Amino acid sequence: MIRSNHRVKAPSHMIVRAALGLHRLLERLARRVLTPEALVFTEVVRLARSEVLGALVALGVMDELRRPTTAAEIAGRLGLDADRLFRVLRAATQMGLVTLDRRGRFTATRIGRVLRSDHPSQSRELVRYFTSRGNRDAWSFLTHTLRTGENGFGKAHGTDVWTWFAEHPEERETFGRALMGLELGDAPFVASLFPWAEVAVICDVGGGCGVLLSEILLRNPRVAGVLVDAPAVLASAGQLLARCDVIDRVTLAPGSFFERVPPGHDAYLMKHILHDWDDTTCTRILGVVRQAMAPGAKALLVERLLDRHDTTSFAVLTDLQMMVACADGRERSREDFATLLRNSGFRPGRVFAGPTIAVIEGVAI
Ligand SMILES: C[S@@+](CC[C@H](N)C(=O)[O-])C[C@H]1O[C@@H](n2cnc3c(N)ncnc32)[C@H](O)[C@@H]1O
Repeated sequence: MIRSNHRVKAPSHMIVRAALGLHRLLERLARRVLTPEALVFTEVVRLARSEVLGALVALGVMDELRRPTTAAEIAGRLGLDADRLFRVLRAATQMGLVTLDRRGRFTATRIGRVLRSDHPSQSRELVRYFTSRGNRDAWSFLTHTLRTGENGFGKAHGTDVWTWFAEHPEERETFGRALMGLELGDAPFVASLFPWAEVAVICDVGGGCGVLLSEILLRNPRVAGVLVDAPAVLASAGQLLARCDVIDRVTLAPGSFFERVPPGHDAYLMKHILHDWDDTTCTRILGVVRQAMAPGAKALLVERLLDRHDTTSFAVLTDLQMMVACADGRERSREDFATLLRNSGFRPGRVFAGPTIAVIEGVAI
């Protein structure tokens, strides 16, 4: 069951920028002292790290680490092989998930604790999604994508990710919970980036479980919302909105942004929608949204900004995830978004850029 009442207090943008900068600096320093061969090895064995995370989560091992415990005790409780579990947990010490004491007992660290099933951050679901069959198989076609330009997910599964989710409800649920966890982290930043009180009704297109909409409405008591997504997604959104006590200000509108979205509102929010799609499809989605809007109404795109030659941003890796797992999605620069907006009947407006995410405004013309 999703814990929706977990609200993250966002650290200031300055602290986030400083922390990210320090992290990059330390990584650069570490790279200077290791040999290139050692670095190649370090990078390629990262695959093992994903698998360790995936196995510990899938087997519920982190739930058994509520006090210092030996691998044998956990193995006994979960019916696992004690020696192999010990070796996997020992490797997990290098990932900062657990510590190992002199008596051979493992203890979950603050990172390991977020992987427990009852932790509200849903990090466990993020691990499940990344190590799911749908995602892993798509990544296995990266060389094919580079040779042909063809999307990995489509090649692996013969369909796009959203159709796949419709046919694999368990993976869709996992993805939904993973997104909700990411949203819980992003929402306070986004809610503080833009002056939301200047709009009356926000239509959140592809709004998922409504985490961001709830956060905005909680902070802006005079603003109302409309949440558009697939019917199955909206079912869990309703519970969240009710728990956040904003449900009476929200209309749930099941539907597809390829067909129509509810008309006549003054702002259309789209967070992490366009990065799922190629330019042609983005123009199509923006065109459907534009059709619903009167001149002067705003499209508010919430996305990570990635300049072509930016090598430091976290978005460099999410760009690849979009390339592989979505329908040829990508992260984009300010100019890219401005072009998409211009091609879809909008005038590019203000850009509110935080350290990891931005609100990009387009005004309907
Ligand atoms: C990457 S998620 C972003 C969700 C949310 N805005 C966020 O930032 O967490 C994309 C969302 O688009 C929804 N979606 C996909 N295809 C859609 C369509 N044709 N019409 C409406 N929503 C759709 C998905 O169900 C999902 O909730």
